Amino acid sequence: MDYAYGPGRNHLFVPGPANIPEQVIRAMNRNNEDHRSPAIPTMTKTLLDDVKKIFKTTSGTPFIIPTTGTGAWESALTNTLSPGDRIVSFLIGQFSLLWIDQQRRLNFNIDVIQSDWGQAANLEVFASTLAADTGHNIKAICIVHNETTTGVVNNLAAVRKLLDQYQHPALLLVDGVSSIGALDFRMDEWGVDVALTSSQKALSMPTGMGILCASPKALEALKTAKSVRFFFDWKDYLKFYELGTFWPYTPSIQLLYGLRATLDLIFEEGLDNVIARHSRLAKATRLAVAAWGLKNCAQKEEWYSDAVTAVLVPPHIDSLEIVRRAWKKYNLSLGLGLNKVAGKVFRIGHLGNINELQLLGCLAGVEMVLMDVGYPVKLGSGVAAACAYLQNTVP
Ligand SMILES: Cc1ncc(COP(=O)(O)O)c(C=O)c1O
Repeated sequence: MDYAYGPGRNHLFVPGPANIPEQVIRAMNRNNEDHRSPAIPTMTKTLLDDVKKIFKTTSGTPFIIPTTGTGAWESALTNTLSPGDRIVSFLIGQFSLLWIDQQRRLNFNIDVIQSDWGQAANLEVFASTLAADTGHNIKAICIVHNETTTGVVNNLAAVRKLLDQYQHPALLLVDGVSSIGALDFRMDEWGVDVALTSSQKALSMPTGMGILCASPKALEALKTAKSVRFFFDWKDYLKFYELGTFWPYTPSIQLLYGLRATLDLIFEEGLDNVIARHSRLAKATRLAVAAWGLKNCAQKEEWYSDAVTAVLVPPHIDSLEIVRRAWKKYNLSLGLGLNKVAGKVFRIGHLGNINELQLLGCLAGVEMVLMDVGYPVKLGSGVAAACAYLQNTVP
C-alpha cells in the first residue's frame, strides 16, 4: 500500500527529516554486505576522515553510531561525565528541554539557564555563573547550536570566548543536529569538545546515524567518566579503530553508502557553498514571511536560523490547522509548533539538499494555506519577494 498523498512528490519542508537527493537514494539501494570484508573498513576510513571536514575539525576523533540525535546526546554525555557532575545547560526551546530531561535522567546536577522561546542563550547569566564558579565545579556546558523549535541560533564563538575569559576548563558539548552541514560550524576554532549531529537533518540522509566528534580534551575526560554506558561506549570504538576494523557491532551498510554519497555531493558543491546556499534560501524565506506581514519567532536578526524559519501566526489563527491543511490539500509538509509555541508557529525547514524552485513551491503552498485559514494574504506576495531576491543574487 502506498501511503503517499496524491500525484507528484510530497513537498517535504519540515526541519528534518530532510529531502534525500536521488544520488543518495540510489547509492543506498543495494544488498547487505559483510561488514568484516576488507571493503568496508576502507570505505569507513574515508567516512571518518570526511565527517571531520563537515565539523571543521582536524584534532577531533569522529564516531559514527547507529542511532538518532537523541542517542548522540547520550553518547556525548555518558562518555565524558559521571553521575552527579555539575553541568550548565541552556533552555531555549523544545530540543534543549528534551536534552535537559535526558541530562536529569542520567543524574547530572544541572544549572539550567532559561530564555524565552524565541530568544538565544542568556550569556549574561552564563557569565555570572562562570564568574561565581571559582572552584571550577562545573564540568560541562551543554548547548543546542540551532534550536529547531524556534529557529534560533546560539552564538558558540561567544560561549567559547566567555569560557576563555574566565579560564574555565568545563567541556563544551554542542548539539549540532540541525546545524552541522547547514550552518557555519567550526568545531576547532570554537573549542567545542563534543559536537554531534544525526543523519536525517542537513546531511539529507535517512534517520539512523548519530555522528559525533570528540576533542582531545573530551577523550581525556572519557578515561575517568563513570556514567554507565555500553552501546555508546567510545572505548569500544577506539579499540576497533586500533584494529583497523572500525565497527564494534554491525553498521547499516546502506547508510554507509548513503553517507559516502551525501559527503561526495557536499564536497562537490563545496561545504562553504552549501552553507551559503542555506543562507540564501533562508533569506528568501524570511523575505516571503515579511511580505505576508508575519513575524519570525526568533526575536532578533542576529539569532535568525538559516536552517529553519519558525513563523508566528496571529492569535486568532491556529498554526496546527495550517500544517494540517498544507499536508492534506497541497501535499506540503510543514513543521508543527511544539510545546510552548504549539498553535502559535509553523515551521519551514530549509535545510539539506534543496534548491530555489523547491523552496518557491513551498512558499506558494504556504500562501494558499494562509488564505484558506482566513489570513488576509495577497497571493504571490511572498513568492514574488523571494523570487526577486533569488533572481537578483548569485548562488
Ligand atoms: C536540535 C535537535 N536536537 C536533537 C534532536 C533529536 O534528534 P532525533 O529525533 O534524531 O533523536 C532534534 C530533532 O529534531 C533536533 O532538532
